[in-house]
Amino acid sequence: MNAALPVDVLKQHLIDPEICIRCNTCEETCPVDAITHDSNNYVVDPDICNGCMACVPPCPTGSIDNWRLVVRAQAYTLADQLGWDELPREEALPEAAAAVLPPADATAPEPPANVAYTAAGASVPPWSAAHPYVNLYTHKTPVTATVVGNYRVTGADTDSDIHHLVLDFGELPFPVLEGQSIGILPPGVDAQGRPHHARQYSLASPRDGERAGYNNLSLTVKRVTEDHQGNAAHGVCSNYLCDLAKHDTVQVIGPFGQTFLMPNHPRANLIMICTGTGSAPMRAMTERYRRRIDTGENGRLMLFFGARTERELPYFGPLMKLPRDFIDINLALSREASQPKRYVQDLIRERAADVLGLLADRNTCIYVCGLKGMEVGVLDALREVTMQSGQDWTILHDVLRREGRLHFETY
Ligand code: A2P
Repeated sequence: MNAALPVDVLKQHLIDPEICIRCNTCEETCPVDAITHDSNNYVVDPDICNGCMACVPPCPTGSIDNWRLVVRAQAYTLADQLGWDELPREEALPEAAAAVLPPADATAPEPPANVAYTAAGASVPPWSAAHPYVNLYTHKTPVTATVVGNYRVTGADTDSDIHHLVLDFGELPFPVLEGQSIGILPPGVDAQGRPHHARQYSLASPRDGERAGYNNLSLTVKRVTEDHQGNAAHGVCSNYLCDLAKHDTVQVIGPFGQTFLMPNHPRANLIMICTGTGSAPMRAMTERYRRRIDTGENGRLMLFFGARTERELPYFGPLMKLPRDFIDINLALSREASQPKRYVQDLIRERAADVLGLLADRNTCIYVCGLKGMEVGVLDALREVTMQSGQDWTILHDVLRREGRLHFETY
């Protein structure tokens, strides 16, 4: 009898479409461009993925961490994966393949030593961050929250319609930390007749609630009326949320996020850099600090906030009422008639001495949230101010990422 021929077995990397919130983090993180997506799913190309695991720690939901042993020649194709609504069941391998399987502990790809960070930021939280809960509610088990507040936080005369939405969870537990996000399931179906995917929103409120002691949280939602190229587009979830009235209910999943978290030890400093609705996590962290302003535990807060004009800057009024010795506010306005155009990175350069002072302190963490385009600009500015002081940015950047002290969330 002929012996079975050895069969090449692949530990295939797959993304769970039921848990994935389509946040694009994995695609951005993948160092070999193995991850791609269409309007339905995020998928992994079996011919490119080398199992390096770089995408696994940054994934806010854990949907990225799925693996199937398959015969390499029968690996799930991109077309297979794009059509899935759920992961396929584990299939037993043919006997010939099982016979040549490597030992069990050798099949799991080991993360390389440098996956503590993505290209730009850390993929580990600061050492003192509190433990986050994630995925308590999923697509199959969403929680119903009630709208208890919905009001506009940008000038009524501007095109920038940004809302502050407060959701109450009643008796149901929904533990969150500043920097985490939730998913909203908009009602209705997409063009293919499938239920809409969840949309991800960062929390704008601190861990103890929008109103301290209440089981509620807040979001900062911009009504989307055009795409990134400026063409007319109707944001399914943002329009749904901005139009909600008090007492309406919404389906929520999450919470998500295990790395973009604030340090929890006394006298930690925060440098917060944001544009537009990227201010949500900064508001959450600032409010956490504000609520303990009398404890003496706070470090320094330095904020760089970019918007077109003061009237288009969400929460402008309440922000400007915060005491100057509590938070160092730097507004970068790009279209204010009376002022030269400014981006956050310009102000980082202008405040180089103070930024450097904070960077020199290991208790400082940096958070960047907002437009994708500012990521490069902010990194360039940080590099420039560091190099001007005679330090090596490559080394500092490495330290900041390894120690979970530099975090990006851009879209
Ligand atoms: P701009 O006036 O050039 O669009 P938005 O209102 O679109 O959410 O943008 C928020 C702010 O971010 C605006 O001031 C916008 O300026 C600014 N911005 C746009 N591109 C960048 C970038 N690459 N880096 C930093 N800020 C940017």
